[in-house]
Amino acid sequence: MVKICVLGLGYVGLPVALGISSKFETLGFDISKKRIKELSSKFDSNREYSSNDFNRKKLTFSNKTKDLRDSNIYIICVPTPIKKNNLPDLSYIKESISIISAYIKSNDIIILESTVYPGVTEHFAKFLELKTGLKNNKDFYMCYSPERINPGDKTKKIKNINKIFAVNTNDKKILSKVKKVYKLISKEIVFSKKIKEAETAKAIENTQRDLNIALFNEILILSQKMNLNFNEIIKLAATKWNFIKFQPGLVGGHCLPVDPYYLSFIARKNKFRTNTLLSGRSTNNNMKNYVVNEISKCIKKNKLSNKIKILILGISYKYGVSDLRNSLGLKIFNKIKKKYKNTFFYDPFVNIKDKFTNIKKLKNFKLIIFLSSGKKYKPIFKKGIENNILILDPFNYFS
Ligand SMILES: NC(=O)c1ccc[n+]([C@@H]2O[C@H](COP(=O)([O-])OP(=O)(O)OC[C@H]3O[C@@H](n4cnc5c(N)ncnc54)[C@H](O)[C@@H]3O)[C@@H](O)[C@H]2O)c1
Repeated sequence: MVKICVLGLGYVGLPVALGISSKFETLGFDISKKRIKELSSKFDSNREYSSNDFNRKKLTFSNKTKDLRDSNIYIICVPTPIKKNNLPDLSYIKESISIISAYIKSNDIIILESTVYPGVTEHFAKFLELKTGLKNNKDFYMCYSPERINPGDKTKKIKNINKIFAVNTNDKKILSKVKKVYKLISKEIVFSKKIKEAETAKAIENTQRDLNIALFNEILILSQKMNLNFNEIIKLAATKWNFIKFQPGLVGGHCLPVDPYYLSFIARKNKFRTNTLLSGRSTNNNMKNYVVNEISKCIKKNKLSNKIKILILGISYKYGVSDLRNSLGLKIFNKIKKKYKNTFFYDPFVNIKDKFTNIKKLKNFKLIIFLSSGKKYKPIFKKGIENNILILDPFNYFS
């Protein structure tokens, strides 16, 4: 009987566990006691799932490693952040592989879903071989299947996304087992035999997006320096057949600000100094200074006092999510609040203090700042204009 263990039940692991457990006996394992307690009572603090989504599932939750003992497929969805010096931090993967090493048996399948640089999956396959005395692609099968889920996006749910699956075997039994499981959590499975190519593909997807947004952020600032209308410039350029439009904005979260560092790390290991991979990082990171500067300019120009009431819209790293990791919006809010004590934010997806919920009292604010183009903010923009409130829309989302 197939029993699957999903290790790490965050933004990626929970959807994977919920999808798979519609058919297969699944253990959701997380080292966080708090997370296991919440999920066991059908509560997802990430606010991606409601209690109904936990119904009719063959899913149990645990933070006890001994519960892994009957599993034969292990899916690893643990964090892959960067350290303070921007180097990859693989400690979470190492820990989960160490946990698995005590339980794997002949014919078990281990699938890494975390974003990594090329070579990591095979590195940990070797680590498992050393720890267990078993052989990869003979006794156990180490695979890589990067996740592309887009939290907060109702149209890109796990079942609507094509999934890369890399494994280096022709063993029909293994491939058919994997297909049965992964068809529950993908639109189409795209098989690859080269794990390193799949790892690289995932890392470049996010790096490309980081770079594209950085380019548009620079064009936005340049337009402003030249006193030109950014939206008009883009509208004109987009009439060319091969111009690709992106939206400027704040880049944060667990992926885009991290993955380019994973790629540049492996480039350096291959004695290649890249010029482009990381070039979006400083541009995108500096956008928080750009916004803070715009706010200061606006306050000075309008001769406003330190006591004014300010409302900042959109505080998590992107619209529709509660995730505050690497959120530039949060950094901007904290910086502004230090000087202007009466600064509040509105973000219907985030649940922390200082949240302003009563939109009816909008009139009390002197200045409203839009950090997100989310559809829930558009009516607030209109209302702000109607009420003659000063509006700052630094990314030209609604202006
Ligand atoms: N969040 C996204 O939008 C997204 C999208 C695609 C890919 N990814 C990638 O997926 C991976 C996971 O990201 P996430 O956003 O789900 O992270 P997350 O922080 O939301 O969740 C990770 C979970 O793993 C748990 N954990 C840590 N170490 C563990 C261990 N040894 N054993 C079991 N559980 C452990 C943590 O307690 C946490 O609950 C990362 O590599 C990320 O880059 C994330």
